[in-house]
Amino acid sequence: MFLRACRLEPVENVPVWFMRQAGRSLPEYRRARGNVSILEVVRRPELAAELTLQPVRRYGVDAAILFSDIVVPVAAIGFGVDVQHGLGPVVANPFASEADLERLRPLQPEVDTPYVIEAVKIAVEGLSPFGVPLIGFAGAPFTLASYLVEGGPSRSYARTKALMRSDTGLWTALLDRLADIALASLRSQVIAGAAAVQLFDSWVGALSRADYERYVMPASRRVLEGLKDLGVPRIHFGVDTGELLALMAKAGAEVVGVDWRVPLDEARARIGAGFAVQGNLDPAACLAPWDVVANEAREVLRRGSGIGHVFNLGHGVLPETDPDTLARLTDLVHATSPDSLR
Ligand code: CP3
Repeated sequence: MFLRACRLEPVENVPVWFMRQAGRSLPEYRRARGNVSILEVVRRPELAAELTLQPVRRYGVDAAILFSDIVVPVAAIGFGVDVQHGLGPVVANPFASEADLERLRPLQPEVDTPYVIEAVKIAVEGLSPFGVPLIGFAGAPFTLASYLVEGGPSRSYARTKALMRSDTGLWTALLDRLADIALASLRSQVIAGAAAVQLFDSWVGALSRADYERYVMPASRRVLEGLKDLGVPRIHFGVDTGELLALMAKAGAEVVGVDWRVPLDEARARIGAGFAVQGNLDPAACLAPWDVVANEAREVLRRGSGIGHVFNLGHGVLPETDPDTLARLTDLVHATSPDSLR
C-alpha cells in the first residue's frame, strides 16, 4: 500500500509509518542498543537491521526506514563528525574555507559504507515475510551543510547563511559535493534493496523561497534527478517548509513531506496535481489523551483524502511518546476506509 500511495494509485487502506519510528520510545530498542553510540550501531549491520525491523513488528507499519543517520556518509569519509547523545551531530572543525573541500572527497559506498549496504540487505530480507518495503534515506545538501558549517545544531543558521551569501562559489562547491555524497549513498541503498528513498532537508525551512531557489534547489535537484533512472518513489521532506512545498516538489520528488503547520489539502493546493503527500500529525499531539489523538488523526486523514496520502507525523516521534499510542494510531489509520474520506 505504501508504494501504491506514493504512485497515486488506489489503496485499500491509507499506508502509515512514522519518522524516527526506530528507537527512542521503544523499550526493546533501548535493550538491544545498550550504551553503544549511534555511529557505532550503524557500523554493525545485524544490529542496525534489527532496529529497523522492531517498529514493523510492534506497530504493523507499512514501511520501515533504515536505522542510520544523515551524517553517516560524511563521517565515513573522515570529515570528523560525532553524534552526541540528546544533542545531535557535532563537528570539531567546522567547514570554513576552500581547503575544507578536500575533507569532502566523493563517497564510494562499497568501500566507505559497506555496513550500510549490508544492513539494507539484511533488513530487506527480514522485512519480506511482512511484505513491507524499506525506505533508504540521506540528508539533503542544505541540512548537512548546516551541521558542517555551524559545527552543531543551530537556531539561526547565521554562519551557514553568511557563507551562502558571502562566498557563493564556495557554498555551491560545498553543496555540490554534499549532493554527490547523498546521491552515491542513496543509489547504493536502492541497489541493495531499498524500495523508496527519503531526502531529509529537515532545516531548509529557515530559508525564503527566493534563497531556496537560488542557493539550494539546484543541489537537491541534482540528488533527486540522479535517482530517477532507478524508478523508486522519492520523498522530499523538511520542517517549516510551508512556503517551499511547491519548489520541493519541483526539485524532483513523487512525494512531498508536509509538517503539521499546513493542512494536507492546502499543501496539495500549493504543490499542484500529480504529487503524493506524506504527513502530518503534530508529533506533540501523540502526547495528548487518546481521544484527542484519534480526532486529530481523523482530521489528517480527511484532509489527505485517501488517495496519494502516506500517513505520518509532521516530524519525528518525540522520545516521550507512548509506543501504545503509535500502535493504536496505526490501527486507526488502517481501519479507516479511503472511500469514506472522499
Ligand atoms: O527511525 C529512526 O529513528 C531511523 C533512524 C534515524 C536516525 N536519524 C537515528 C538517530 C533517522 C531517519 C535519522 C535522520 C536524521 N538525523 C535527521 C532527519 C530527520 C529529522 O529528524 O529531521 C536529522 C536532522 C538527523 C541529525 C540528528 N541525529 C539529530 C538532530 C540527532 C539528535 C536528536 C535526536 O533525535 O535524538 C541525531 C541523533 C540520532 N539519530 C539518534 C538516533 C537514534 C539518537 C542518538 C543518541 O541520542 O545517542
